[in-house]
Order: sequence, then C-alpha cells, then structure tokens
Amino acid sequence: MGRLDGQAAWVTGAASGIGKAIAATFAAEGAKVAALDIDAELGERVVKEINDHGGKAIFIKCDVAREAEVKDALGQTAATFGGLDILANNAGIVQVGPLDECTEEAWDQLMGVNVKSIFFSLKHAMPHLRKNDRSYVVNVGSISSFVGQGSTPGYTTSKHAVLGLSRSIALDYAADGIRCNCICPGITETPLLHYHLNKTPDPEAALAARLRRVPMGIALAPEDIAKAAVYFSCEDSAGITGTSLVVDCGYITAAEWDTDGRTKFMDSPGA
Ligand SMILES: NC(=O)c1ccc[n+]([C@@H]2O[C@H](COP(=O)([O-])OP(=O)(O)OC[C@H]3O[C@@H](n4cnc5c(N)ncnc54)[C@H](O)[C@@H]3O)[C@@H](O)[C@H]2O)c1
Repeated sequence: MGRLDGQAAWVTGAASGIGKAIAATFAAEGAKVAALDIDAELGERVVKEINDHGGKAIFIKCDVAREAEVKDALGQTAATFGGLDILANNAGIVQVGPLDECTEEAWDQLMGVNVKSIFFSLKHAMPHLRKNDRSYVVNVGSISSFVGQGSTPGYTTSKHAVLGLSRSIALDYAADGIRCNCICPGITETPLLHYHLNKTPDPEAALAARLRRVPMGIALAPEDIAKAAVYFSCEDSAGITGTSLVVDCGYITAAEWDTDGRTKFMDSPGA
C-alpha cells in the first residue's frame, strides 16, 4: 500500500531536479501523476521512466506562467484521472544580478513562473478540489522565503511571496477541506543550483564556500525534498496547514557557521 494510493496529483517543473523527484516519488507511493513542464523532451522522458517502473503518469507541456495553459492542463489532468487531489506547485527559475540591472520583462517573467503560476493553478484546480473531502496543496518555496541571498533580489522576493501565498491559501480554503503547506529547500543538487553557481567566477569554489556554511556539510538530494512533499500530500500531516517546512541541512539555523572539518554526513553513502 502506497501512502498516495488512488490519488491524482499535479506536479509542475517535473522534467528536472526536485519536480522530477516529486513526480517519481508520488508515483512510487501510488499516485497517478500529471507531470507538467515547458521542456517536453525531458518531461516525456521522466514520464516514460515512471511508467516503465509500473507507475502511472502523463506528461502535459505547459508554461505555468500562462493562465490559459494552466487551465487547460488542469482540465486534462482531471479528465484523465477522474479528479484531482494533490497540487504540487514546484516549477521555478532563478535570475542572478543586481536589481538596478534587472529589466521589467525579466522581473515579470520571474514572478510569473515562481508566483503567479500558483495563483493560476489554485484558481483553476478549485472546481476539481472542491469535489473532494480532502485535498492537498504543496508549494515549493526556498530558504529564500525567510532570508536574503546576494544578487537574487527577484528570486528572494518571489520566494517570500510563495510562503505568503501558501498561508493565504491555507486560510481561505480550509473550509473546503484543503490543506496547503510550503516546503523550503536549502542547497539542493539540481540543474538550477548549477545554473546559479555558474554565474560565479569559480562555481566549484562557490559551492564549497556555501557548503561550509551548512552544519551537515552536504547538499540535499531532490529526493529529500520529495519525501517532504509526500508528507504534506497525505494524512501523515493531518492537522497541519499554512505552515512551512525548511529542509536545508541546518543552513539557516545559524547566522554564522563555518564547518571546520568533514561531518559524518559527508561520509554517508547518500552524501
Ligand atoms: N535547487 C535548489 O538548490 C533549490 C533551493 C531552494 C528552492 N528551490 C526551488 O525548487 C523548485 C525546483 O527547482 P530545481 O532546483 O529542481 O530546478 P530545475 O531547474 O532542475 O527544475 C525546474 C523545472 O521547472 C521547469 N520550468 C521552468 N519554467 C517553467 C515554466 N514557465 N513552466 C513550466 N515549467 C517550467 C524547468 O523546465 C525545469 O524542468 C524551484 O521552485 C526552485 O526555486 C531549489
């Protein structure tokens, strides 16, 4: 018995990184998964892998920043699976650079993908979610939902907004049987992390410097975040709504931290 048996789930940004892990873990827990992404080639590959391993998944190409596409994709998901129970809003992008060099177009693009997408998916999922006794909304924020990070003003703003939006959804739709929570990952080994690091003069040194500030000394695996997504998408988290779960190997626990050596976590097989 999987923890998500019979549930129909929507996962955005499912072609890569954390979204890919959420889609695969949801399917392994018994959910029928609609995997959404703008990258059709990678997205189709993820869905094939899930189905080859005995799961049930469909891929829908969708730009989550476009309302009409989100509405259509949600309709297709509910029609294919006979309903919708779990909305996992994970798709996100990062932009690196100072605010005074940011264009209006770039700012709008970032807010569209990271924030407006959640508004669109919630809005158009509601007719389907209202049919359920229980539904689950899981939004992916970041440690940047709580603290700033250099040279990412738009990203930090967008991730603070994701946390605020998650709280608002939790309040306004509790009466509809919906619980909404926000997962806030720290440094997670994905293409997005490397895109960010590659903006620095020495990406390897930049990663090492960041990890020295992490008490556990390691980067997270996307699967670590996916486990938290499963928790918020079933009754294991009954009674929890409007909250955030920081999954960051201790990164934002300390204002200052510098590991003076290897931790046991660095030597563990999963590290
Ligand atoms: N990797 C990290 O260290 C980290 C840390 C904190 C939070 N996060 C958050 O986790 C989420 C997933 O990030 P990731 O690291 O897995 O990144 P990733 O780049 O590996 O995956 C993101 C996916 O989103 C898709 N996407 C981008 N724009 C889209 C759009 N308009 N419509 C549909 N899909 C779109 C991409 O094609 C990609 O497949 C993001 O919200 C990110 O902000 C990541």
